[in-house]
Amino acid sequence: MVEDRASEFDFQRLRQIFNGAYIANGGYDRDSAVAAIAGERADFIAFGRLFIANPDLPERLRRNGPFNVPRPASFYAGGAQGYDDYPALDTASAAA
Ligand SMILES: Cc1cc2nc3c(=O)[nH]c(=O)nc-3n(C[C@H](O)[C@H](O)[C@H](O)COP(=O)(O)O)c2cc1C
Repeated sequence: MVEDRASEFDFQRLRQIFNGAYIANGGYDRDSAVAAIAGERADFIAFGRLFIANPDLPERLRRNGPFNVPRPASFYAGGAQGYDDYPALDTASAAA
């Protein structure tokens, strides 16, 4: 869902030598986050774009979607547009 960005940095080497809780970030969606945790490649996953597009992301992760798709055109646009106008799940079904 969110495209991966190529990186020369060896994050798994960092994971191996860092003794604290390891929070990974960058290009994760629900499935890849679950796989990373299950594979012990990270202790936690942080979401950026997916959270911008989904104000109720924790509930959507619990439900396995649906997920709003981020709109890159409104990133860094300088106003509220693109930050407060993605639809939330309806309250009645979110409480179910
Ligand atoms: C519009 C936008 C604003 C962001 N603002 C911040 C910020 O203020 N501080 C920060 O540490 N990272 C910021 N980030 C980076 C995200 O926290 C995250 O590292 C990046 O989007 C990669 O994660 P993702 O693939 O889950 O989106 C921003 C990213 C986007 C797209």
